Amino acid sequence: MSLNIELLESSFSQIKEQETEFTTHFYTNLFADYPEVKPLFVNIDMKKQAKKLFKSLVLVVDSLRSPDVLANALKALGTRHIQYGVLPEHYPMVGSTLLKAFSICLESAWTPNTEQAWSEAYAVVTELILSGAEYPTEMSAPLKKINSLHR
Ligand code: HEM
Repeated sequence: MSLNIELLESSFSQIKEQETEFTTHFYTNLFADYPEVKPLFVNIDMKKQAKKLFKSLVLVVDSLRSPDVLANALKALGTRHIQYGVLPEHYPMVGSTLLKAFSICLESAWTPNTEQAWSEAYAVVTELILSGAEYPTEMSAPLKKINSLHR
């Protein structure tokens, strides 16, 4: 799958100007739509967490043209997420919530092409993150589901 790098970069440049709005929409919607993930974030300073998440999205977009850098960073992130108690089935929840936050912040720039570009990018990001996380194989079913949606 080849990603639409130009569209990812141009749409993200608009998101970069609204970091706080974006992360506020993201976490508000994540906890409203998927309350089951709330316990993972107890004792977490959400202001700091929002900054870290945003920084990692910047890194992803900045590394789209350097696949090795991207793959290594995401694999390491996947390994750390096991320790945070994150399971493969949580990734589609974060994916749909990220897309929702993009749609709200991009307004009229959220076109079917932009949506396709970001959902394909998230599928690749999830694949790389989970490749750095050794979960038993039967737990990878949600990943297969994400992949089948974008083939
Ligand atoms: C594209 C997917 C994701 C990205 C880019 C991402 C990014 C990050 C980053 C940068 C951190 C800061 C700590 C670190 O760098 O290790 C973090 C922490 C965390 N993430 Fe994610 N994450 C993703 C998916 C998820 C999912 C699916 C969940 C579960 C719902 C999750 C839950 C957490 C939690 C609970 C922490 C806090 C860990 C702690 O400080 O104890 N993340 N994430």
